[in-house]
Formats: sequence, C-alpha cells, structure tokens
Amino acid sequence: METRERNRPSSAAVERLHDQLQESLRDLVTSEDWKRALEVASRFHDYSFANTRLIWTQALARGFTPTRVAGYRTWQQLGRQVRRGERGLQILAPVIRKVTVDSDEEEAKEQRRVVGFRVVHVFDISQTDGEPLPEVTAAIVEGDLPEQWNQLAELIGEAGFVLKVANLDRLGDANGITDWQRRDVVIRADLPGAQRFKTAVHELAHIRLHEPTSEGRPNCRGVVEVEAESVAYMVCAALGIDSTGYSLPYVAAWSGGDLDKVAATANRVIGCARTVLSQLEPEQRLDRDPSPSRGPSRVDVRDRATREPVLNREDIRRSQLQGVVEAATAIYYRHLRSRSGARARDYLRGRGIGDTAMDRWQLGYAPASWQWLAQQLLREGFGEELLLDAGVVGRSRTGRLYDRMRNRIIFPLHGADGTPRGIAGRLLSGDGPKYLNTPETALYKKRTLLYGFHLARQPITDTGRAVVVEGYTDAIAAHQVGISNVVATGGTALTPEHLQTLRRVTGDVTLAFDGDSAGLLAVERIVGVDAAAHSLRVRVARLPDRRDPADLIAAGDSTLLRETISEASPLPHHLIDRIIQRHNLDEPEDFARALRAAGTIVASIREPCARTEALAHLATEIGRDQTWIEAAVIADTPQRERYRGSMARGL
Ligand code: UTP
Ligand code: MN
Repeated sequence: METRERNRPSSAAVERLHDQLQESLRDLVTSEDWKRALEVASRFHDYSFANTRLIWTQALARGFTPTRVAGYRTWQQLGRQVRRGERGLQILAPVIRKVTVDSDEEEAKEQRRVVGFRVVHVFDISQTDGEPLPEVTAAIVEGDLPEQWNQLAELIGEAGFVLKVANLDRLGDANGITDWQRRDVVIRADLPGAQRFKTAVHELAHIRLHEPTSEGRPNCRGVVEVEAESVAYMVCAALGIDSTGYSLPYVAAWSGGDLDKVAATANRVIGCARTVLSQLEPEQRLDRDPSPSRGPSRVDVRDRATREPVLNREDIRRSQLQGVVEAATAIYYRHLRSRSGARARDYLRGRGIGDTAMDRWQLGYAPASWQWLAQQLLREGFGEELLLDAGVVGRSRTGRLYDRMRNRIIFPLHGADGTPRGIAGRLLSGDGPKYLNTPETALYKKRTLLYGFHLARQPITDTGRAVVVEGYTDAIAAHQVGISNVVATGGTALTPEHLQTLRRVTGDVTLAFDGDSAGLLAVERIVGVDAAAHSLRVRVARLPDRRDPADLIAAGDSTLLRETISEASPLPHHLIDRIIQRHNLDEPEDFARALRAAGTIVASIREPCARTEALAHLATEIGRDQTWIEAAVIADTPQRERYRGSMARGL
C-alpha cells in the first residue's frame, strides 16, 4: 500500500517536487563553488560559427579535439600557462572603431563599428598546464536498477524507439543519447542501475517533449536539457531515487544558473513527469500487452533491435496537448488568485463557492482580453499550431491568434486521472453563450468526460452509489456540502460512455437532473426503462421545479437535496409518475390512455423484480390492484409494442 502511494504522487506532490528542485538549485547557484565555476565559464567566448570552424579544422589537423579555448592572457588569468612551443589556433577577431555618424534628424552620434578583422591566436586547454579549472561536476547516481525499468523500457519502445544499453562509440562522453534519425536510445552500459534508469527517463522526456518537428519544442538547447533533466529528477525522486548530485549541476549548467529559465519550464516539466509516473504504475499497465518475462535481461540490445519499432505519434501528440491544457489551466488559476481576479472571486463567493473549493477544482479566471493567454503560452515556447489544436485559442480571418476564453470563470475539465483535458468557461458578464467549452481533441471527448469523476471516484466506491448532475456548479456545490459522490455531465446528454465509466465503480446511479432535461430522456434512450437488465440501478431524484442542486444548496437547503437523492425513485416509477401527471385520471378515456402508456412501460421490464415493483407502483398510483392491471393491459401488450421511447414523443 505504501509503495503504491509513493508511485502515484498526487498533482500537488509532483508540483512540490518541482518546487524542491528549484529550491535546491537556488542553494547550488548561490554557493561559492558555483559562482566561481560560472565566472570561469563566462571567460570563454561563444565563438562565431566561422571561428568555431576555424578552431576545429586546425585542431583536428594537429590531432586533437578542442574543448575549451581561450587567449594566452585569459589562460594566465585562470592560473594556467600555455606550454612552450605550442602553436596557437588562428581565428579572426573583429576590429572595432568608434566612428562619428551624421544623421539628418539627430545630432552627430558616436557609434561602434566593425571596420575590419585581424588574426588572433587562441589555445585549447590541452595546450596549457596549471591549476585545474573550477567546475561543479555531476555525481553519478549510485544504486540498483529500480523495478520500474521494464515499464520504462516499454514506454520508450511504444514511442517508436529501440532502447539499447551498450557502450557504443557514438555516445561520445554522454551517458545516453536519443537519435531521431535512427530512432533509438542508447544508454551507457557500465553505469550503476539507478543512473541508467535516470538517464533513460531523461531520454524519454526528450522523446515526449522535443521531437525535432514539433511546434512545442523549445528552440534552445539549454531549455531542452533543463526540461529533460528536470523530468528525470522528479520521476526519480517520486520513486525514491535521489539524483540530486547529478541533476542539480546538470540543470544549473544548462540554465546558466538562471532560475527564471527553470521556472518557465515548470508546466511542461510537471505535466510530463506526471504522465510518465502514472504510466510507470504497474497496475495501470495491466491492460496493455502484458509481457511474460520480467527481468532486466529483457532489455537487451539484440532483443530490442530485432523488434519492429512501433511509431506512436498519438502518444507524443497527446502529451503535447496535455502540456498546453495544463499550462493554460495554471495560468488561469494564478490569475483568479491575483489582484485582477478579485471580481471573479467575489462572483464565486457570492454563489457560495469558497476558496477551498476554488482550489480543489482548480478554478481560474480568464480576463476580458483577446491575446492574454495566447501571448503567455507562446512565451512558454508552445507553437501556434499546438495552441490551436489544444483548443485554447482560435485564429481570426486575418490570421491572428485570439483567446477563446474571455472574461470567464474557468472550470478545468479533468479526466479520470485528475489531469485537465479541456476547459469550460462561464461568462462573468456581457454577451455570449453562458458556457463555452474548448473543442474536442485527442484528450478531451465530451461524450466520455464526467466532470469531477477524479474527486468522486472514492466517495462513489464508499457509498456504493453515484449521483449525476448536469452543471459544473452543481457538482462543486454538492461536494462542498459533503455530498461528494457527485459527477456532472456538463450539460451534454448522458451517454453510454458516461454510464460505462460509472459502472466500473458502481451499479447504482441516481440522476439529479432538471425534470425536463435532455439528460433524462437520454437515459431512456440508452437503457430503455429496464436499467436492471443492464445490471444498473438507475434512479431519478425529483428536484423542486426549475431548481438545480446548486440552487438548493445556495438557498441553504442541502438537507432537502440529500433527502431528494436518498428518496430517488427507480427510473420506471419516475416514468410512470410523469405519465400519470399528464393525464386526467377522472376522464375515462384519458385514464385508458394513461393506463396503456404506463402498462407499456411495465411490460417492457424484463427483470422480474423490477417489473413486479413497477407494477405495484402503478397499482398504488392509480388505485387499482395489480391483477386487474395485468388483466387489463399488460398481458395483451404484444412484444413488439413494448416501450420504444414513447416518453420522448411526449405521450
Ligand atoms: P445550466 O444553465 O443549468 O447552468 O446548465 P448552471 O450549471 O446552473 O450554471 P450557473 O449556475 O448558471 O453558473 C447546466 C450545464 O449545461 C452546460 C454547462 O455544463 C452547465 O453547467 N451549458 C449550459 C453549456 O454547455 N452551455 C450553456 O450555454 C449553458
Ligand atoms: Mn443549472
């Protein structure tokens, strides 16, 4: 049980891991060692492309590979001496002069201009002797290969990459590489198991986040490495492997010690780490192709090499979309809690939704601007097409991106695993549809998503019963007063997919919809009246006219809501009641019509107990006894005339 918990960190726990990473980074980059190393690093020029080529060709011609290159004087300042007789590598240095420029409008200005080039000599570190350069070095992670290694290897395989654990030449001095052309991942074989695992997570993060053709890919190598290693650090930490000694210097070096740069990657990194962690969970993977052999020997160069790589672009795509929706959710979330979110917060509080509920449901606020979100997401490095595909922005006819959600309270639509898949926004004021949802994507399907299922699953299991409401606010309000086995359809009709999801946790479903709602009619269409035949017990709560659960709760009537739910009547009883309500039983003809319609319902119930109950109910309601009814109608009802959605036609 305890290890399960560890393997399945909550969203908050994963975010905490990132905070922890940043915290430790802060300690590292403010340390004396780091400062010295950074200072040294800053002495080395970033040579131009032409100069880099000059350095390389000359060095290679003389038989060495250049690593760190600097001028004679710089080496001296760093405590190293160029060896006697060493020939310098020639590069071209710009000659800069101050020149006076005359411009028409402004007065004469002094400017710095490149007026020519001259040859200067530089030396590689291998041509020098002296004190070693201060460096913050990464310490290899010690420890055994964790049990999740095989699952990790499978994830890499599923992404279409062949995993090789071998000391291949092309590794150079790296511990692992991802080769997009060959589509393989190579991990150095002579490393401790824990380090091999960490490196493999690092490469998997590259695969998921940095496909060369993807729009979401950051275009700077530094950010790419920061992201991959942060994911590796977090996944390892969540599994109890401490990679601090390796990950911190690595991330610090690639970010240049810039903590803001690290913080800017948080959303993508947290999203990726969370997905990987959930996929490393053995329980969830049971439904995937189970592999009989389980031992480190499974990942063997030959084994893998002979297996056809399965390209799974779908997974890559999904995790990219996930990154966008999570980032948008986080941005809206912060905004609701900022000063500019005050009006939105007041609105929610006015409707009885408190701060705890706002956090629990990750509610947010989208201000009334057109490019507020788009600009932030573009800055985070997401590409335009990806933002469009995730549905958070649209493109105008003039080609400009615009935010879909403007001046709206944001309700993230979480999947069963608690990750946001889509977004719904409720208009705060002004014109437009009351609710607006992001369009369907590979991540978010209206028909499947049950709002609040990630929070209601346990309470549903505990109470043995699920309550389905229509509105997001209904679900939130119900949870807030402790009725937490509640999910919402979000205004769409109840679907077979919704019921299927619920059936995984309960056979008892109570609908607390508006009496005339489409949702209710949909149930009749899906299961007919004979829910029992589908081993489902569907009941209908009778809410007061035109009032939804949120209204009742806001009016302080949560007791009434609770009672209404516990007194919900079986679906056939509810249908019978509605027929009776619509007919005048004192009119003999109308009575006959009502009896026929109600009789049809009873007759269409195949499950014997449910059928007897419905018959008893009808008998009570019309004041006749059961045998009379049976003789009068039901026995005569031919099979093919059984209930076929007569309610929907308004009988
Ligand atoms: P309601 O109109 O009952 O909304 O629609 P509500 O939940 O009570 O909203 P508040 O209380 O006014 O804020 C029920 C559900 O139908 C969907 C939404 O999911 C809403 O929660 N809906 C409603 C839409 O998708 N679009 C709309 O324009 C209106
Ligand atoms: Mn409502």
